[in-house]
Amino acid sequence: MLGNLKAQPADKILALMAKFKEDPRDQKIDLGVGVYKNAEGVTPVMRAVKEAERRLLEEQTSKSYVALAGDPAFADAMIDLVLDGAVARDRIAAIATPGGTGAVRQAFELVKLANPEARVFVSNPTWPNHVSILKYVGIETVAYRYFDTETRAVDFDGMLEDLAQANAGDVVLLHGCCHNPTGANLNLTQWQAVVDVINEKGLIAMIDIAYQGFGDGLEEDAAATRLVASSVKEGLIAASCSKNFGVYRERTGILMGISESADQTGIVQQNLNFLNRQNYSFPPDHGARVVTMILTDPELRADWAAELEDIRISMLGLRQQLADELQKLSGSDRFGFIAEHRGMFSQIGTTPELVEKMRVDAGIYMVGDSRMNIAGLNEKTVPILAKAIVDAGV
Ligand code: LMR
Repeated sequence: MLGNLKAQPADKILALMAKFKEDPRDQKIDLGVGVYKNAEGVTPVMRAVKEAERRLLEEQTSKSYVALAGDPAFADAMIDLVLDGAVARDRIAAIATPGGTGAVRQAFELVKLANPEARVFVSNPTWPNHVSILKYVGIETVAYRYFDTETRAVDFDGMLEDLAQANAGDVVLLHGCCHNPTGANLNLTQWQAVVDVINEKGLIAMIDIAYQGFGDGLEEDAAATRLVASSVKEGLIAASCSKNFGVYRERTGILMGISESADQTGIVQQNLNFLNRQNYSFPPDHGARVVTMILTDPELRADWAAELEDIRISMLGLRQQLADELQKLSGSDRFGFIAEHRGMFSQIGTTPELVEKMRVDAGIYMVGDSRMNIAGLNEKTVPILAKAIVDAGV
């Protein structure tokens, strides 16, 4: 049986991680996987996470199972963090999941259970694993225009035209903030126009929000998700704690299902619990418990928010420094978009050939679609990257 297996396509982002590790050059720069790194290249355990873990170690008296949906206190805390009352709590069913990816996977499986005919519209480009999981689950994917490779901003007219092709019941997958991979985002007026299309055409909104706090701030980054959630009849929200709590390996995420009325919440919850049971039974608890402790303790929460804000500001500083450096070296303003983009990534909009050239010549590792992780930089490496970009002829 096992001899029948065929090779699977490698995940582009994870393959790049492995390639970086193998490169013996000291001056190599990792701008690949979406993991925050400080100026020393370290992904730190956040202060509030350390403190919550210390308390947990002392106070936890049992490792017995919690519940199929995870701890209800985690759901309450995360629903509050993401939605802040935008939707009545009794319309929301939720399950804890292994990371944001787990939430995305469960969301697609729920779509398949509820409407096997539904197609999922994804931005072109989107996080490659969205498309890969959809294919694996057996859901048809339709790409909508999103990124204008000339302006490196959102091709909003193209996006609306393509969404107008969706049929009632199709799902529109949107990145709540900090679009991955491009870094280009809609403004709130544009979000409202997307909501109007969703409601006019009877589409289902699905939001993946994995970088809340990395763009314009914790509240600002949730504004679009709150707008959508409060304006549509039904929706799905997959949220990750990997990045904003720095708990990547703990696999901490949540899927929320918003129903049209509170009468349906019970059946949605039951289906979400069922999916958890089928796929892995109980979701991981450690990261979720730590996140809950932080969000419900005013001191820990304030410290966490402050550290996250420092991270956000430092990344904005790196964006500005890179845009300035590129302006200086190239003598043109065409890289100004790097300072406009938000979140962990910017897609610089060049060819895979030039991305490969920068890797070979200068040890710069960015994803083949020219996505770079801004957090992989520091003040000293920004000029090196800028020079590599200009030398490669981007
Ligand atoms: C990324 O896009 O780099 C992150 O979301 C990590 C991953 O799992 O791909």
